[in-house]
Amino acid sequence: MTATLGARRLEDRIALVIGAARGIGKGIAARFVAEGARVMIADTEAAIGEATAAELGGAEVARFIAADISRKEGAELAVAATVDAFGGLDILVQNAGIYPWTLIENIEAEEWDAVLGVNLRGTFLAARAALPVMRARGGGRMIFTSSITGPHVSSPGHGHYAASKAGINGFIKSAAIEFAGYNITVNGVEPGNILTEGVKLHRSPAFIKQMEDAVPLGRLGTPADVAGAVFYFASDDGAYITGTSIVVDGGQLLPEGADFKMTPG
Ligand SMILES: NC(=O)c1ccc[n+]([C@@H]2O[C@H](COP(=O)([O-])OP(=O)(O)OC[C@H]3O[C@@H](n4cnc5c(N)ncnc54)[C@H](O)[C@@H]3O)[C@@H](O)[C@H]2O)c1
Repeated sequence: MTATLGARRLEDRIALVIGAARGIGKGIAARFVAEGARVMIADTEAAIGEATAAELGGAEVARFIAADISRKEGAELAVAATVDAFGGLDILVQNAGIYPWTLIENIEAEEWDAVLGVNLRGTFLAARAALPVMRARGGGRMIFTSSITGPHVSSPGHGHYAASKAGINGFIKSAAIEFAGYNITVNGVEPGNILTEGVKLHRSPAFIKQMEDAVPLGRLGTPADVAGAVFYFASDDGAYITGTSIVVDGGQLLPEGADFKMTPG
């Protein structure tokens, strides 16, 4: 079963998806384009980002801007480029994130700052830069990629990452309250284990197999799985939802123990 794509339920909407050259962000950008939105892809990876924009349909519907979301100028550039290219901004997705694996006893302050800088500071900077444009437009949607790691669970090596993602959930609640009066909703998605280029690069095949075995639905997620939840918040169906997030994990958080595949008796 697949989602009904191309129903164009985001016709005339303008979106900025940050961290969308590849992986989950690319899946979100692809879903938005399929639903009729025009999409600015912002990322630090220029060659991949340009290729992604071309693959999604080129300048009429998808463009690329090189921007580092951990920097104030990067966030402002991404928003300004979206407005310049398409005439406004209705949907902001801050999906850029980095996830180095380092035990807390080995995390240097610089690595801590780098992870928090992209994942959490970047989310604040993106919201801060998009806010005046959405206010002037009479409303908007902000959607941030959190994780099950941090808000719900963790594992060794994720000290900085878990802190950054739990921070995003707290920020979502504050921003949702502050921006409600501007008709801007703020929500998040919390992916479980999604098979992306980044995961293949940074995680061993053994780790990936172990994660597959831990998911009741029996497979890792895809970028399209996460994009479906992001699309829901961005669509008219999500108009009355703010300050919350959707877990997209194939049931990974559910088991009480490692024996969840056993039948009783
Ligand atoms: N893949 C998973 O299993 C999983 C699970 C939970 C949460 N997440 C989150 O989903 C998001 C995407 O993950 P992914 O697996 O697709 O990762 P990925 O590494 O495949 O893609 C991330 C993208 O963000 C870009 N990026 C990194 N730093 C940036 C910066 N400073 N400014 C702009 N762009 C930047 C990268 O170039 C890349 O294109 C991240 O926030 C990640 O923490 C992923």
